[in-house]
Amino acid sequence: MAKMVFAPMLPVAVLLGTLAAFPAAVHSIGVCYGVVANNLPQASEVVQLYRSKGIDSMRIYFADADALKALSGSNIGLIMDVGNGNLSSLASSPSAAAGWVRDNVQAYPGVSFRYIAVGNEVQGSDTANILPAMRNINSALAAAGLSNIKVSTSVRFDAFADTFPPSRGRFKDDYMTPIASFLATTGAPLLANVYPYFAYKDDQESGQNNIKLNYATFQPGTTVTDNGNGLTYTCLFDAMVDSIYAALEKAGTRSVSVVVSESGWPSAGGKVGASASNAQTYNQGLINHVRGGTPKKRRALETYIFAMFDENKKPGDEIEQHFGLFNPDKSPSYSISF
Ligand SMILES: *[C@@H]1O[C@H](CO)[C@@H](O)[C@H](O)[C@H]1NC(C)=O
Repeated sequence: MAKMVFAPMLPVAVLLGTLAAFPAAVHSIGVCYGVVANNLPQASEVVQLYRSKGIDSMRIYFADADALKALSGSNIGLIMDVGNGNLSSLASSPSAAAGWVRDNVQAYPGVSFRYIAVGNEVQGSDTANILPAMRNINSALAAAGLSNIKVSTSVRFDAFADTFPPSRGRFKDDYMTPIASFLATTGAPLLANVYPYFAYKDDQESGQNNIKLNYATFQPGTTVTDNGNGLTYTCLFDAMVDSIYAALEKAGTRSVSVVVSESGWPSAGGKVGASASNAQTYNQGLINHVRGGTPKKRRALETYIFAMFDENKKPGDEIEQHFGLFNPDKSPSYSISF
């Protein structure tokens, strides 16, 4: 429609098209601010560090009052998670959802909320709570006049099956299809955590050695053609993201876009590939790469690096404590430019 209206005014249309390409690129990279640690700087210092590095988007994993206060007036775009522990009450009670929105969103009019993530990597029977909680939060935001804030959920890559070649990608479980339909209705993106590192590590540890380090870290040397979609892939990250797009298409929700709500690489921790040099190569490659999107969608792909800091209280494998771009004293873990 807009094209037809402006068709006689070609220079204006061309100009608009040119301008439109820039804001999306500016917002392509954010960083996740995880706080599972006992040695991190104050939230106000953290927000200052984001600003001094030119990082204009952040993800936080719960409604952290300190972070929200520090973010007020900062203009940093925010993904805020509903903690997984809140899912069942928010799913069963519209008034609990309204209370959550009042206390954690409406109370911070100076914060640039972009998305509410209803659950992170939810698994098992709790997956049944995701959609009802999304509906209740969405209604509460609408009632508060905040429909510009989009409601989604953040899924792990395990939510997809048959992800290679990318064109075969589909949702692994049935619960995802109604969630995708809801996203299509509201115009919200699907948030997905995409880690070439874990695919690489699992492949190496199993002795299969199908995935080359260069392909996993945005370095040249490997080219894969997907005969299903005719597209050519030069990095594992693109192949993974495009398998998510394929899954959304198969579910009849082609209009839903993807936001990569986590991606990163460990700088230490004793597992295969975990080194500062590989982490630097991966994360700098990611920053440089996502501006151009993936073979299926050649437009800036909004992506959040995991994570801002090394987190010394993260459970599990030691690598989990070494995903930070920065040390707790705010010195860089390795050099990165945003
Ligand atoms: C969400 O979880 C927090 C922390 O466990 C709790 O204090 C709060 O009451 C919960 N809110 C809802 C609406 O479930």
